[in-house]
Amino acid sequence: MSLLTAQGITKRYGGVIALDDVSLELNAGEVLGLLGANGSGKSTLSSVLAGDNRPERGTLALDGVELAAGSPRAARAAGIAIAHQHPGLAPDLPVWENVFLGAEVCKAGRFLDQASARRRAGELLSSLRPGWDPDAPATSLNAADQQLVEIAKALALEPRSRQSDTRDSRIGRARYRDRVHLASDGGNRSAVRSRAGVVQRTARW
Ligand SMILES: Nc1ncnc2c1ncn2[C@@H]1O[C@H](COP(=O)(O)OP(=O)(O)OP(=O)(O)O)[C@@H](O)[C@H]1O
Ligand SMILES: [Mg+2]
Repeated sequence: MSLLTAQGITKRYGGVIALDDVSLELNAGEVLGLLGANGSGKSTLSSVLAGDNRPERGTLALDGVELAAGSPRAARAAGIAIAHQHPGLAPDLPVWENVFLGAEVCKAGRFLDQASARRRAGELLSSLRPGWDPDAPATSLNAADQQLVEIAKALALEPRSRQSDTRDSRIGRARYRDRVHLASDGGNRSAVRSRAGVVQRTARW
């Protein structure tokens, strides 16, 4: 059985049909690439999978169990995380706090242990690129590193399925290799890429 399935997803923005009856299946341990021209609906599909966007039609399921569409909370509870194409970092907060921003409450009534969060953020960031200063403010990061923090934020949620909606041109080849290593850790990754060659080498598409 597929891990994540989307069936017949249709999403309109006013008169624009961003997704027209789109279906996909993601299997356990798989990297799935979505290829398409600018404006073809890659980000919209990623945000639908992550519950950030409610489609007019279609269904989502994880492990064969239907997921409430348009509910980020339900998607996250089911183990789905998204690294957005346009990172929304808090510029004045240190890098490590950005990694755990929005994940401060672990369980009902329990809050994140700051020391262990800083240590864990450092580990996640180092797995993407060595040599981070986790205390540096996010505002000091270039666009490529902001994108890596966005990916670390998704990994910090320890998802079962992660949508990485990002452009390789922003991250660079050396860093991309690191991410491919991460992608083979047994989790599931659906990656949205702009460079066809990179997708062909690393993902089913
Ligand atoms: N919030 C929005 N309001 C109105 N139209 C939107 C909105 N978001 C996306 N669209 C439109 O929906 C279509 C799909 O956009 P989307 O951003 O999903 O494409 P994409 O494949 O991710 O593009 P890119 O390669 O530029 O990232 C485009 O025509 C876009 O203009
Ligand atoms: Mg996009």
